[in-house]
Amino acid sequence: MAPVRNPFAPGAGSRPPELAGREAILRDAEVAIQRAVIGKPSRSQMLLGLRGVGKTVLLSKIESWRRTQGT
Ligand SMILES: Nc1ncnc2c1ncn2[C@@H]1O[C@H](COP(=O)(O)OP(=O)(O)OP(=O)(O)O)[C@@H](O)[C@H]1O
Ligand SMILES: [Mg+2]
Repeated sequence: MAPVRNPFAPGAGSRPPELAGREAILRDAEVAIQRAVIGKPSRSQMLLGLRGVGKTVLLSKIESWRRTQGT
């Protein structure tokens, strides 16, 4: 594997090349944000999990998506 293109991205909160298997969590977050924009309540999300499972990466992904919504 060429070191420059190696997809292994160790580190705390660094965005991986592919955010594998988190579609449902991100979809729930998008719905909650869109509902908040139109003033409707929605269920809270808590990101729980073992060390290194990807909580910080999810938080920053949701945050950057929220910014694109102008909220
Ligand atoms: N869905 C995913 N697919 C591939 N890699 C991922 C995924 N989620 C996280 N990673 C990678 O795992 C590593 C750890 O992610 P992150 O720092 O978000 O974990 P964490 O749950 O916040 O850890 P900690 O409990 O130590 O705070 C990062 O290098 C990140 O790129
Ligand atoms: Mg973290």
